[in-house]
Amino acid sequence: MLQACIGSICKKAPRWSLFTLCLLIQTAQAGQPASDAIASAHPQATAAGMAVLQVGGNAFDAAVAVSAALAVVEPYSSGIGGGGFWLLHRASDGKQVMVDGRERAPLASTRNMYLDEMGEPIDGLSINGPLSAGIPGEPAALVHIAEKYGRLPLQLSLAPAIHLARDGFAVDKQYRKMAGFRLKALQKSSAATEQFLLKGEIPPIGHKIVQADLADTLQAIAEQGTVGFYHGEVAQRLVDGVKKAGGIWSLEDLAQYKVIERAPLVGQYRGRRVVSAAPPSSGGVILIEMLNMLQQLDIQRFDSTQRVHLMTEVMRRAYEDRALHLGDTDFVDVPLDHLLSPSYARLRVSDINPDKASVSQTISGLAEMEGNDTTHFSIIDKAGNRVSATLSVNYPFGSCFVPPGTGVLLNDEMDDFSIKPGTPNAYGLVGNEANAIEPGKRMLSSMSPTFIETDDDVAILGTPGGSRIISMVLIGALEAMRNAPVDHWVGRARFHHQYLPDVIQFEPGALSEKTQNKLRVKGHELEEKDDYYGNMQAVHWDKKTNKVTAGSDPRGIGAAAVIPE
Ligand code: DON
Repeated sequence: MLQACIGSICKKAPRWSLFTLCLLIQTAQAGQPASDAIASAHPQATAAGMAVLQVGGNAFDAAVAVSAALAVVEPYSSGIGGGGFWLLHRASDGKQVMVDGRERAPLASTRNMYLDEMGEPIDGLSINGPLSAGIPGEPAALVHIAEKYGRLPLQLSLAPAIHLARDGFAVDKQYRKMAGFRLKALQKSSAATEQFLLKGEIPPIGHKIVQADLADTLQAIAEQGTVGFYHGEVAQRLVDGVKKAGGIWSLEDLAQYKVIERAPLVGQYRGRRVVSAAPPSSGGVILIEMLNMLQQLDIQRFDSTQRVHLMTEVMRRAYEDRALHLGDTDFVDVPLDHLLSPSYARLRVSDINPDKASVSQTISGLAEMEGNDTTHFSIIDKAGNRVSATLSVNYPFGSCFVPPGTGVLLNDEMDDFSIKPGTPNAYGLVGNEANAIEPGKRMLSSMSPTFIETDDDVAILGTPGGSRIISMVLIGALEAMRNAPVDHWVGRARFHHQYLPDVIQFEPGALSEKTQNKLRVKGHELEEKDDYYGNMQAVHWDKKTNKVTAGSDPRGIGAAAVIPE
């Protein structure tokens, strides 16, 4: 009955009226949100999460359902062949934790594995095919979240995803765009071609993508937990497929994979508590460092040009620290306390010239990355449990490689390591020693699932977007902190600076001609992007009115739902 109910909801999504058929009316208690809310990058994933909430699951069960559904319907963004960070807040005791399901480097990986004899990066090796894939963390994270924080058995929370994989979902515009971007790489893997293309080409809108092997693998996880993926038949197929195609995974790699619970990073900004991702993400460190610097500068008192100038200088400095200091803290020492201290923020802003752009060291040959692969969702339930999760397979469709018989599209997250000091990755990010490849190490990430809390309200937000994730979360967070409605957080025009390349990138129309000219006079180089970027998903709980609102980025195809409205 429960599964049939979940199944029917998923088939008809996003026709919300059907939810009411299955609604278990819950009375909100004082101090708890009046509604459940989910914002995710795909209507079918939002529907999957709502279905699970409405049969008695909590926000953590819903997070499992949403993550798994996204793995099916947004294969270009995240999946069980990838990883991510799930930031959880448990209402019953206020516990906050980051579930680190980030991929890790295979045990046979070596520092220079993507370089040729001359020490130069080999084109595409860290991006395409099984050699680019880290050991996935998402399956272990989903099992962990369900068992430790959820209320429902995995069989229930994974049911919508299994259903979507077995019965198929319809190709949309976004799918076609991403498949087009990665067509050549997908065509190189026969299992990926079969799973994601039609006769070897981009399928038309409306074509059903049926993923029977993926449904079987999800079913194995539902029945056996981590054993269903990291041991036994599925594990053997993953390793055989990877090895046959030139990769270096071993059964030991899969057997050793463990989720790590980490304390989130916490900062303060104008009386607000900012809770965000800890390393191996750089997101929380850089976000809090930027807010610390902005606190020194009091940007609200300036006109828009000066605000963009100062925010750019702040981004430049924080992203420089990302390049120089950040990596997996289980392997390298990162001066976190120093980077997050107000005194360091004071020092860093002290050389900002109000009239003139600073100069980052210039480099060339940066690869360009467009698109909204990687994914984020935000959830609150009526008990006040919350999840902010950003998940990824890295580049669109990850490595584009599927080990035959598994349905698992592997990530290409190895490219997030610094494959050679000073050499930019797919997002133009440079790094050094701290983020060099080591067996078992987690690659540095920018994913920044975040909560912003006061006594009066709670914001839950995050976005995909490679290197631009952290600046987008900063811009969204500043909107939230000036009490703008949630649509503004997700919709606000964006600009970005990441230290190198030394240029302000901005969305079409984000900066007026006048502002652009004034910024040029200050010495900034500007680059208007051809396209919009990011796919922010956010939820807001106003405790004073007890109203919950949610917003899905207008740039994407996602859906935000609040029930009851
Ligand atoms: O972990 C990271 O920072 C990257 N792998 C995220 C990639 C991403 O957001 C792609 N979206 N455009």
